[in-house]
Amino acid sequence: MKTTFHMDSSWKCFFSLLIIFPLILQLISAASDTINATRSIRDGETLVSSGGRFELGFFSPGNSSNRYLGLWFKNLTVTTIVWVANREVPLTNRRGILRVVEPGLLVLLNDTDGVVWSSNTSRAVQNPVAQLLDDGNIVVRDVDDESPENLLWQSFDHPTDTYLPGMKFGRNLVTGLETYYLSWRTSDDPAPGEFSFHLDPTGYPQILLKKSADVVYRIGPWNGIRFSGTPNAREDPTYRLLFVMNETEVTYREDTIDRSVVSRFTVNPNGVAQRLTWVDRTQGWATYMNMPADICDTYKLCGAYGRCNIANSPSCGCLERFVPKDPQAWVGADWSNGCIRRANLSCQGDIFLRYSGIKLPDSRNSWYNKSMTLDECRTHCSRNCSCTAYTQLNMSSGSGCLFWLGDLVDIRSLSPDGQDIYIRMASSESDSKGKNRVVLIASLASAVGVILIGLSLFLCILKRTNNQKQKKEVQYSPHDKDSELPLFNLSVITKATNNFSMNNKLGEGGFGPVYKGILEEGQEIAVKRLSKDSMQGLDEFKNEVIFIAKLQHRNLVRLLGCCIQEEETMLIYEYMPNKSLDVILFDQTRSKLLDWQTRFNIINGIARGLLYLHQDSRLRIIHRDLKASNILLDSDMNPKISDFGMARSFGGNETEAKTRRVVGTYGYMSPEYAVDGLFSVKSDVFSFGVLVLEIVSGRRNRGFSHSDHNLNLLGHAWTLYKEGRQLELVDSCLGDSFYFSEVVRSIHVGLLCVQQNPEDRPTMSSVVLMLGNEGVFPEAKQPGFFTERDVLAAQSATSTHTASSANEVTITMPEPR
Ligand SMILES: *[C@@H]1O[C@H](CO)[C@@H](O)[C@H](O)[C@H]1NC(C)=O
Ligand SMILES: *[C@@H]1O[C@H](CO)[C@@H](O)[C@H](O)[C@H]1NC(C)=O
Ligand SMILES: *[C@@H]1O[C@H](CO)[C@@H](O)[C@H](O)[C@H]1NC(C)=O
Ligand SMILES: *[C@@H]1O[C@H](CO)[C@@H](O)[C@H](O)[C@H]1NC(C)=O
Ligand SMILES: *[C@@H]1O[C@H](CO)[C@@H](O)[C@H](O)[C@H]1NC(C)=O
Ligand SMILES: *[C@@H]1O[C@H](CO)[C@@H](O)[C@H](O)[C@H]1NC(C)=O
Ligand SMILES: *[C@@H]1O[C@H](CO)[C@@H](O)[C@H](O)[C@H]1NC(C)=O
Ligand SMILES: *[C@@H]1O[C@H](CO)[C@@H](O)[C@H](O)[C@H]1NC(C)=O
Ligand SMILES: *[C@@H]1O[C@H](CO)[C@@H](O)[C@H](O)[C@H]1NC(C)=O
Ligand SMILES: *[C@@H]1O[C@H](CO)[C@@H](O)[C@H](O)[C@H]1NC(C)=O
Repeated sequence: MKTTFHMDSSWKCFFSLLIIFPLILQLISAASDTINATRSIRDGETLVSSGGRFELGFFSPGNSSNRYLGLWFKNLTVTTIVWVANREVPLTNRRGILRVVEPGLLVLLNDTDGVVWSSNTSRAVQNPVAQLLDDGNIVVRDVDDESPENLLWQSFDHPTDTYLPGMKFGRNLVTGLETYYLSWRTSDDPAPGEFSFHLDPTGYPQILLKKSADVVYRIGPWNGIRFSGTPNAREDPTYRLLFVMNETEVTYREDTIDRSVVSRFTVNPNGVAQRLTWVDRTQGWATYMNMPADICDTYKLCGAYGRCNIANSPSCGCLERFVPKDPQAWVGADWSNGCIRRANLSCQGDIFLRYSGIKLPDSRNSWYNKSMTLDECRTHCSRNCSCTAYTQLNMSSGSGCLFWLGDLVDIRSLSPDGQDIYIRMASSESDSKGKNRVVLIASLASAVGVILIGLSLFLCILKRTNNQKQKKEVQYSPHDKDSELPLFNLSVITKATNNFSMNNKLGEGGFGPVYKGILEEGQEIAVKRLSKDSMQGLDEFKNEVIFIAKLQHRNLVRLLGCCIQEEETMLIYEYMPNKSLDVILFDQTRSKLLDWQTRFNIINGIARGLLYLHQDSRLRIIHRDLKASNILLDSDMNPKISDFGMARSFGGNETEAKTRRVVGTYGYMSPEYAVDGLFSVKSDVFSFGVLVLEIVSGRRNRGFSHSDHNLNLLGHAWTLYKEGRQLELVDSCLGDSFYFSEVVRSIHVGLLCVQQNPEDRPTMSSVVLMLGNEGVFPEAKQPGFFTERDVLAAQSATSTHTASSANEVTITMPEPR
């Protein structure tokens, strides 16, 4: 009995083991994500990635009975194949087997051990394994070497029709390997279909959807933020876009930030590229984006220079100032011939006009330079007669140049995500500036005459000037170039500044706001808009125009023109991308951009600009309001002196004058000027000295405070200088990276410039010499305005009103007499 019972139970045991063993096997195999030389998978078995997201195994698509090796999302209720190995050579039965063999190949074998599909490798390893990673990548590598650089092969390099986050889409320029997507033939057949999706590196890279060899849809070029044609591409918190374009690769990649989001990008057999996201609630895929999305996405629908606008019917139109090439066909809705310019180009003297809100045209026939500015881009384009248009390459950095060399095709309106492009046009298409170069005084006078009727003396004088000059209008002599200045049309400036929108406002100058603008030609400008009610301003305005128009120096800001129309008086300058010195210098974080070399360069630049004003220019000018906020910085941080509203010319021998009104800015005004209204070149030298000390220390003179004393910056600097501790003045953010001798020299020169007695201060020519050379300089005497209290005393002594409370505002004080 006992024995029987025993036998019974052991049989039970045996049977239960028979049932359980395969289950255990299955559990082991389900848990595995790796195969090696001894461990392979057969039809029916699968590999599962470690995190359980993906599964690799055999499947039959749709109604087909063929077997394929493929990869799908493990955990979704809808089987979604994202990769197929043997897409062209199906297995006809369920006896396929996947192995890893030496020297490192993943091979798919049929039941007669024929190789149906194989991966490839450029080198051999001893003990190869294949692993399914949790991002859906199948990699072949050496068993002990998991580093991504040493992979023998990866399925991410050989996708089928689906992009998964983490893949690099594009071209490896070293190996020539292109990663692209090729649709299935039908939903039952994963064999290569007609449609493919490429990142095409020809010209400037862009994404193309092709039907066989023909482009059917194009996503525009990458603009630093997104591809130019992608509508409503908003910042998406679930993934990050990476576009790389360097010597080794041109690739695009998306990285998932939120791992719980399941998404894919697929090219359908019917030629639609879709971005899809899994929605748990509906247990289905939701379409995030379809490409092409509408008829305007049809490649080249409207022909060259045609613009497709989905809001219009018909959608095709010519770009402004273009006409249909074949008007009859055009009317018949055959737009393929496109449009032509209504005025022929002449190459020389052509202009560029801005077209806004568009998807950039096909960039396969284009050229680019990553470092050029938009201005350089225009110059470059205008020199090359085959250049038809240009634009900014990188909207993210605001730099770079992309220009087109042939007809512009596949343009559509894209609002609000469109971009600006500048298209070459005949000069006769210009409806704005450039044509009416007139003698400055004449135009100034006539325009001012219009707006200031009844304003007595000033007007009368001008009117007389106007009458006298009227006959001379438009003709000018090339020998008198200084006095002519382009006159801008108000509508041009309004357009360029977006109707003086707040977004374009750069700041508030002495006599009104300053705006940034972009002319239709793409040139960036700064527009100083004189306050309407400022009669006092008009004087300064006129003053400034007359002065600057005659000044040309690399350290002076360049005046491009003016605009006087409909109660508006405006000055148009070249735009300085780095704004003014004070914005950077006195900002704790931004001041780090100014290393010592840059600061020394700025000091020297200002000195040369001032020397030019004082001595070398024909006019000999005292600036009278030199301060950090009047030093503008160009893209290379070169300083340019601006704001000549206060400037005064002085005669050949006369170097000092007395003024009716004291103007200037506290903190920069010399004592003799603030107190007695005496101004001379030496008052500018004083202001320059203050600037030098500010640049070295990174601190404002006005408002300076120190725990040890109540001296201002000048007093503080002089005290340190007397005690041989100059280096303590140096801006702490410079660390140790400066030249000792340059710093000491700069401080010394700065202190010499701010001495109390104007006669003791050096002239700008000596300043430029001293800055450039080692040498023994005279001892600096006590600076003027040693303490802040001196300034306040001077202020109460001279000012009869207290309108000058703001720190950096230029003030005007009537001289007490
Ligand atoms: C393959 O993997 C299995 C299970 O991990 C292991 O037992 C076997 O030794 C491996 N074979 C080789 C050749 O490394
Ligand atoms: C499979 O075949 C049936 C009947 O022929 C058809 O209705 C169905 O749409 C097919 N499914 C696929 C995925 O092709
Ligand atoms: C699988 O899906 C279910 C329901 O959709 C979810 O709750 C579970 O966390 C998922 N598991 C994995 C490993 O993603
Ligand atoms: C197995 O594959 C080889 C190579 O592709 C082929 O020649 C052979 O006919 C296949 N055998 C079967 C039974 O399909
Ligand atoms: C495999 O790679 C070698 C060299 O890396 C190359 O010559 C060969 O054409 C490749 N074969 C396939 C089928 O890709
Ligand atoms: C190109 O970019 C890739 C990815 O950022 C980088 O790995 C590679 O080193 C770069 N190549 C060069 C030549 O800079
Ligand atoms: C423009 O050029 C074309 C051919 O180059 C010529 O046929 C046409 O008459 C020209 N149009 C004008 C307005 O000059
Ligand atoms: C790009 O432009 C910059 C600035 O104009 C120039 O220095 C550089 O040589 C240009 N690069 C090429 C490849 O033309
Ligand atoms: C215009 O620029 C392109 C690209 O840089 C160049 O290939 C072509 O020779 C240039 N043409 C002329 C006339 O300079
Ligand atoms: C565009 O500019 C950004 C910011 O300066 C930079 O990170 C990116 O690499 C640039 N893109 C290209 C394609 O040059």
